Amino acid sequence: MESDRRFNRPATTFDVTTYGESFADVYDEWYDDVSDAAATAAFIDGFGTNQRVVELGVGTGRLAAAIRSRGHEVIGVDSSRAMLDRLDRNVAGDATESSMDALPVRGGCADIVLVATNTLFNLTDTAAQSAVFTEARRVLRLGGRFVVEADRPATTGSPRDPVGVRSVEFDRVVLTATQRDGDVITGQHIEITDGSIRLRPWRIRMVDVDGLDQMADAAGLRLGDRFSGWNRTPFSPDDPHAVSVWVAV
Ligand SMILES: C[S@@+](CC[C@H](N)C(=O)[O-])C[C@H]1O[C@@H](n2cnc3c(N)ncnc32)[C@H](O)[C@@H]1O
Repeated sequence: MESDRRFNRPATTFDVTTYGESFADVYDEWYDDVSDAAATAAFIDGFGTNQRVVELGVGTGRLAAAIRSRGHEVIGVDSSRAMLDRLDRNVAGDATESSMDALPVRGGCADIVLVATNTLFNLTDTAAQSAVFTEARRVLRLGGRFVVEADRPATTGSPRDPVGVRSVEFDRVVLTATQRDGDVITGQHIEITDGSIRLRPWRIRMVDVDGLDQMADAAGLRLGDRFSGWNRTPFSPDDPHAVSVWVAV
């Protein structure tokens, strides 16, 4: 069960710390450009000045720093101590170690709750994902927004491409292996250097936009807008990616 989470202990199976513990030491090197942080911050600007933003899965603060540099307040939450150890609070704002389905944030205080870069899918059961929507609604003020950036299920981890090459360098090769079971994808980034192999495991449960809308509806969040990306291009059904905005009602 995801609720039996074991923070900061050696991992023997998948839990809420798996992603962060797998990637913390290479996250900034490998994923600095995984998405456009400036565009995310500009998107937040569209809701007004001086927004109080709660970012779920804040990680090393890549997005939080960009959002904060535009004058917004960011309260970060992340389940991985290793990721938070790399976050500079002077640049990215305050951050707390917790899972995003149980937020250490008082009710009604946030203008925006943000979860970006498929991070919602790191919770791999329906109840825990639904709890994120319930928690987002609880911490949002009336009229506040829950913003979720996520890939669509059909586009990631295709069974036709279960092994891939992430990078080949002089002294390092990184391969990826994925296995799909319904909407749950289990993956390994396999880092090979001379004389050693390091496994970096991860698991996600993907949900398409209809499923996200159902969880939002049940939590008291109404769909406001949906875009194909941070540049606010309107969403169309073939888009591989969606930025959804629900309003707290
Ligand atoms: C892909 S990284 C994204 C980091 C940052 N938002 C960014 O865009 O660079 C996902 C982050 O979510 C965190 N995470 C995974 N599961 C979580 C959970 N259940 N609760 C809170 N954070 C979680 C990981 O530790 C990691 O820092």
